[in-house]
Amino acid sequence: MTPVIRIQDAGKYVGQTVTVRGWLQRRTGKGKINFLRVRDGSGIFQAVAFRPNLGDEKFQIVKNLTTESSIVLTGEIRADERAPGVPGGYEMDLQDIQVVQIAEPYPIAPKEHGVEFLLDHRHLWLRSNRQWAIARVRAVVVRAIRDWLDDHGFLNVDTPILTPAAGEGTTTLFEIDYHGTPAYLAQTGQLYNEATIFAFGKVYCFGPTFRAEKSKTRRHLQEFWMVEPEIAFCKLEELLEIEEEFVSYIVQTALERCRAELALLERDTTLLENVRPPFPRITYDEALERINRAAAEGVTVPPHDEPLPALEWGSDFGAPHETYIASLFDKPVFVTHYPTVCKAFYMEPEPGRPEVCRSADLLAPEGYGEIIGGSERMSDPDMLVEAIHKHNLPEDAYDWYVELRRYGSVPHSGFGLGIERTVGWITGISHLREAIAFPRTLGRITP
Ligand code: 4AD
Ligand code: MG
Repeated sequence: MTPVIRIQDAGKYVGQTVTVRGWLQRRTGKGKINFLRVRDGSGIFQAVAFRPNLGDEKFQIVKNLTTESSIVLTGEIRADERAPGVPGGYEMDLQDIQVVQIAEPYPIAPKEHGVEFLLDHRHLWLRSNRQWAIARVRAVVVRAIRDWLDDHGFLNVDTPILTPAAGEGTTTLFEIDYHGTPAYLAQTGQLYNEATIFAFGKVYCFGPTFRAEKSKTRRHLQEFWMVEPEIAFCKLEELLEIEEEFVSYIVQTALERCRAELALLERDTTLLENVRPPFPRITYDEALERINRAAAEGVTVPPHDEPLPALEWGSDFGAPHETYIASLFDKPVFVTHYPTVCKAFYMEPEPGRPEVCRSADLLAPEGYGEIIGGSERMSDPDMLVEAIHKHNLPEDAYDWYVELRRYGSVPHSGFGLGIERTVGWITGISHLREAIAFPRTLGRITP
């Protein structure tokens, strides 16, 4: 019996005869020789079918293979540094082939398809090299997130998806029917993990979150994944130090473990190599001043080179503002102390200056925008009740949340990192829909 191996391990079997099970991406060649580009999920390589080695009957089988046919290949692994593929450098000298299924004409051809066509065929599009590479980077990012948090004393406590009230503002709620009572898909797990820190000190939840975003943008999904660490006895300054260590670890781990994937995506990693602590910090006020100065000078911003719009104090930044601010630095940048009016109800006001809050967004370079939103939380129960009123939220629904502040309340802080935003940034893709296997966007819930 020849060993059944995966393409990623081909290098360990040079000179040996092995079996690989996978799918045909492309067949080329003529006369006595055919080249099969094959993927098996772990990698991509080329098998060389040479008629004198294979025999006429098997060679005819090779010539009848269609794109995406499922096949079992047996042959000798040869090292050749010019051999294409991922990881590359190895190919197979084909000795035997079995066909599992001859695929019907495959709808996705190696030509430009419109994006709607590709999204309609997302279940097949996922097989393309580019989508494969992105999905693998995502898996490495997810693992790096868990590794770092688990290794730094955070306990994973997952929070509910079905919730009775808003966590992040009422305009993006997905309402559902909970046995006759209105309920909502979770926008965040944060409020629940503000409870669990009193049991465990440092926690995180990691799961899907839902926002009924009403506008179509490159940066917004209706369903996205978020990791949300929450920390007791932690003020904003300490939170930012945690965030920069965490993000740097994620990016450096992806660079180290996903070299082949990032090369396949033709990602220029120069700026990513730079992502190491400390990150620059700038206040909202300073950022606003620079935005308005640049707007007055007629500065334009990518991707469409539109003029940067001026902004009034109190407004949240839009994508062009974030892109502009990020472009002033060669690393991710923290923007701190946003106006209280443009942020969620639970953020701690700055002492002596309650019109701004102890919040920080982390903006990624290269136009990827906000990847983290975080803040110090209100720890005083009366102040919190007042904030709930100001935001017109139903006080009853937050009784338990206020009660947390009555039994050993402490300064505490936390943040949420968007997985698709992070993966989009690291892989250098232009739209978040490619950062998740089955994207949910405005107007699309299929497949
Ligand atoms: O800034 P946000 O709304 O913060 C929260 O939800 C807090 N509860 C987090 C916390 O402090 N525990 O969202 C956090 C991050 C954003 O920075 C962004 O990366 C991502 O979640 N995000 C989205 N990603 C894709 N599509 C959307 N519609 C997103 N909305 C937010
Ligand atoms: Mg935010």
